[in-house]
Amino acid sequence: MVKILGICGSPRRKSSYTALSAALKEAEAQGDVQTELVELRARKMQPCVHCNKCLRDESDRCTVFTDDMTELYDKFYEADGIIIASPVYEMSVTAQLSTFFSRFRSAWMISVKDPYFFTKKVGAAIAVGGTRNGGQEFALQTIVNFYNTQGMTICNGGSGIYSGAALWSPGDGSQTMDDEIGMENARNLGKKMAVMTKIMKYTDVI
Ligand SMILES: Cc1cc2nc3c(=O)[nH]c(=O)nc-3n(C[C@H](O)[C@H](O)[C@H](O)COP(=O)(O)O)c2cc1C
Repeated sequence: MVKILGICGSPRRKSSYTALSAALKEAEAQGDVQTELVELRARKMQPCVHCNKCLRDESDRCTVFTDDMTELYDKFYEADGIIIASPVYEMSVTAQLSTFFSRFRSAWMISVKDPYFFTKKVGAAIAVGGTRNGGQEFALQTIVNFYNTQGMTICNGGSGIYSGAALWSPGDGSQTMDDEIGMENARNLGKKMAVMTKIMKYTDVI
């Protein structure tokens, strides 16, 4: 059984949540996949202040702030695959997601001890914008860059889906489903994540 964790970077339960749920459902439909969706919505999280205490403490998590981020470390480290979805804010990701990313400075300690810990984890990205070309690709790349900084393996969506699933949610954000192509891409991304996560977990090379 592989575990795929979905992380929704939206401060509300609307279109990014819908797209991420569809991707996870499709991943689970492939069999031998367990999924969980966590939301950054309403979580109180401090951004990294670069005090380097986590590094001095040789800890795999922030040792200065105990907040709503703390429980997410274990979920992230235990997952075999991670799909992060973000609304597009100012052509990039939300402040909530950026804060979440910043708290992974401590993950460096894991890589020092086990260089292939993150290599075995697969990451995929979903971005939902209010306009058709509102910065989805930049937001996707920001998520992919986070995976790259951890040394994770990237799962793109395959032909035509490139860096991840980009969706358009016109209106109040509840209409992701109207973007049939975007939703199909999110489902295909979930399917490919199931395949790639199994390959990385079950292939006995590293
Ligand atoms: C502060 C803020 C900034 C935004 N910036 C953009 C943007 O740069 N490009 C875009 O296409 N949509 C932008 N939007 C619209 C959201 O991306 C869009 O409504 C999205 O569907 C929201 O996702 P959610 O329903 O998961 O919250 C912005 C919305 C907010 C609140």
